[in-house]
Amino acid sequence: MGLKACLFDMDGVIVDSAVHHFVAWKRLADELSISFTEEDNHALKGLSRVDSLDHILRMGHLHLDEKTKVKLMDQKNAWYLDLIQGMREEDILPGAKELIESLVAEGIRVGLGSSSRNAQLILDNVGLTPLFDTVVDGNHITLSKPDPEVFLKGAAALGIDPREIVVFEDAASGVKAAKTGGFFAVGVGEEEQLSEADKVVPDLSGLTVDRLRTWMSA
Ligand code: BG6
Ligand code: MG
Repeated sequence: MGLKACLFDMDGVIVDSAVHHFVAWKRLADELSISFTEEDNHALKGLSRVDSLDHILRMGHLHLDEKTKVKLMDQKNAWYLDLIQGMREEDILPGAKELIESLVAEGIRVGLGSSSRNAQLILDNVGLTPLFDTVVDGNHITLSKPDPEVFLKGAAALGIDPREIVVFEDAASGVKAAKTGGFFAVGVGEEEQLSEADKVVPDLSGLTVDRLRTWMSA
């Protein structure tokens, strides 16, 4: 099967927002007197906002009612929005824009598959929205990665078989989602955390459409 489309995760693949998520979650964890380190933050990559909060609350053995949880998530998101509001084109990760532009130039469809409810805002801020044929984000899904819903919705929106789509992911949960959905998964980051991916690259710089085609046909 040939390459017809690519679906990109956003946080950690297109923009380096993980540090901003960390700062905001850390501030919340501190207020709740829960110890939370940058290492702990790795486990939250790809998880939805509510799953991330539940993870932190479990770490602190805290049980809270739904109303309080919504308040805490709103607070974390307000801090996060403050941190990302200055994001601009310079904040795009190495190689991402170049790869997306070369896909578009070759007529390969491009979509976003992100757990974030802030995905559209960030794409707009960094100026990438016009390059995307479809954006599926945390507002459109009910099941968080590792469930493949976000990528299957992207494939359906593009009308393309998952076997003809490459998914780019920096999170183990996202790679699992891609593989469960029948996609070709390219992990972006460290091999040991992304061992389920078909291929792993440290970042997107220098990646060509030809190389993707070769990988898929191997
Ligand atoms: C994912 C991030 O892309 O989006 C997670 O990897 C984050 O860390 C999740 O929790 C939800 O993001 P948001 O912006 O909707 O809170
Ligand atoms: Mg990610």
